[in-house]
Amino acid sequence: MNVVDITPRSTMSSVSQYDMNETTRVIAVSSGKGGVGKTTVSINMALAMAEKGKRVMLMDADLGLANVDVMLGLRPKLNLSHVLRGECDLDEIIVTGPRGIKIIPASSGVKQMADLSAAEQAGIIQAFSTLTKQADVLIVDTAAGINSNTVKFCTAAQEVLLVVCNEPASITDAYATIKVLNQDHGINRFRILANMTQSTLEGARIFQKLVDVTEQFLNVSLDLVGTIPYDLNSRKVAQQRKAIFDALPGSSASRAYKRLADRTDKWSVPSKANGNLQFFVEQLIQAEPRKRQVQL
Ligand SMILES: Nc1ncnc2c1ncn2[C@@H]1O[C@H](COP(=O)(O)OP(=O)(O)OP(=O)(O)O)[C@@H](O)[C@H]1O
Ligand SMILES: [Mg+2]
Repeated sequence: MNVVDITPRSTMSSVSQYDMNETTRVIAVSSGKGGVGKTTVSINMALAMAEKGKRVMLMDADLGLANVDVMLGLRPKLNLSHVLRGECDLDEIIVTGPRGIKIIPASSGVKQMADLSAAEQAGIIQAFSTLTKQADVLIVDTAAGINSNTVKFCTAAQEVLLVVCNEPASITDAYATIKVLNQDHGINRFRILANMTQSTLEGARIFQKLVDVTEQFLNVSLDLVGTIPYDLNSRKVAQQRKAIFDALPGSSASRAYKRLADRTDKWSVPSKANGNLQFFVEQLIQAEPRKRQVQL
């Protein structure tokens, strides 16, 4: 298998300790309710991290229509399902996006991962493990809600970033997601990103609502990692198949993404044991979420 060259196009402006450690931070981006901006956030966060010199991979793990590739105007011919069927190697499906970010079109292969034979599983784990040395961060854009695939990705990742916006359903569904991920899957730390806000204060209020309800019923720690303002340009550039961070770097949304990327630098460094993509894929294949009714 050829090794994928994912050297960033942007200049290495900062090389943190965690770059040197050859570990890969895996961040699952999720939400309770759909349409709150997961894919937009995943793409722009990836670009902001790439600008900081990080080698970024973005896995599109959502079967939905507005995929990462569609949003960036890319047309990958192959995806993870071709790899899983043995029709090509992992490096052949990876496409290069703006700022050299590497995109893994995985959506239509995600379900098949659970059905692989032991030998096939070993093959895919091995394939991913070769990517660890070449990626500082893997951002996984998941589907909304508590479906089994999303739960798997959140369980396998080191960080769960939940996107919420100021709608009652978004906050209630975020709570429901936190509850299931905590009570059924033992996740107790969640990064919260308020999106489409009118002010920083609104972001803080959304966060406080989540804290209030989780504090009453759950033993989890929530961390407000940022507030992305509502920006009409975000939609306009999306229609042109561009990301706002690239198209309008000086916009308030782009500056907020930059702050988000800065903030992620302060997160604890993944350990060697869980900081490789082999570990992530092993977890992904093994984690079988228990089904459970969610009651609010
Ligand atoms: N900060 C923002 N300001 C204005 N519009 C935004 C912002 N963030 C996202 N959007 C717009 O909101 C819409 C939904 O965004 P997106 O597709 O990223 O959400 P999603 O959570 O990935 O949706 P789905 O659950 O369907 O996958 C898009 O039209 C996008 O351009
Ligand atoms: Mg999406």
